[in-house]
Amino acid sequence: MTTTLITGANKGLGFETARRLVAAGHTVYIGSRDAERGRRAAERLGARMVTLDVTDDASVAAAVKTVEAGGGLDVLVNNAGIEEWRPDGEAIGAAEVTADVMRRVFETNVFGLVRVTHAFLPLLQRSAAPVVVNVSSGLASLTHASEPGTSAFAFPGFAYPASKAAVNMVTLQYAKAFPGMRINAVQPGYTATDLNHHMGTQTVEQGAEIIVRMAQVGSDGPTGGYFDAEGPLPW
Ligand SMILES: NC(=O)c1ccc[n+]([C@@H]2O[C@H](COP(=O)([O-])OP(=O)(O)OC[C@H]3O[C@@H](n4cnc5c(N)ncnc54)[C@H](OP(=O)(O)O)[C@@H]3O)[C@@H](O)[C@H]2O)c1
Repeated sequence: MTTTLITGANKGLGFETARRLVAAGHTVYIGSRDAERGRRAAERLGARMVTLDVTDDASVAAAVKTVEAGGGLDVLVNNAGIEEWRPDGEAIGAAEVTADVMRRVFETNVFGLVRVTHAFLPLLQRSAAPVVVNVSSGLASLTHASEPGTSAFAFPGFAYPASKAAVNMVTLQYAKAFPGMRINAVQPGYTATDLNHHMGTQTVEQGAEIIVRMAQVGSDGPTGGYFDAEGPLPW
């Protein structure tokens, strides 16, 4: 039996990933910073729920205890993420971005991911086939962001792509440090969720595809990579 924790799984891509992994036979923990939203999501899916705010050490430590008491962890999906927008709904670009905006976005997308990964490492190391999936973004690709004509080049936002580029690097560093684990970054694609005020062009079913696939990767599968549903992406 494979036990999987998905952070930020009470809605959006995390919820859809949970639905699919429950269907695939995983025991799934819905990580949710709001207990009631998490409880409702878990109930709908026949999943377990653990309260988990990725920005809070005590919350993450308590979640480790809960998951450990439940029998341990095989798969960690670092999915929780935020984007900050201007009040008019536009991206906060280079002329407007402040250290405070950067700090808030990095606190969830990068430091939160490291906080959770670090805390769950002991449980993952006890698994026979540990897997970590870090939900990155196509906007993280330095190759694409420097290539006119791509959506990563055209996107005017600043903090979010920078945070996801950092997610890619920490993915690589973790993968090098833990060769016994499969640790990959994935790009779901532009998906209609609350994160982008439902402007995304894909459904959550399409977006979750690569997350679900990488969560089920075998011990002989890739590690230290960056993928979308079509295959490897340039860093
Ligand atoms: N949608 C896209 O087009 C797209 C594209 C590429 C990558 N991504 C990435 O996909 C992941 C999921 O995003 P989504 O599109 O599904 O957005 P979403 O519907 O807004 O879901 C984000 C999830 O993260 C949770 N979250 C936010 N801050 C948290 C915290 N401090 N602790 C725990 N959970 C927290 C949210 O919980 P609350 O309900 O409590 O706010 C929610 O469950 C993110 O990492 C995002 O960057 C999305």
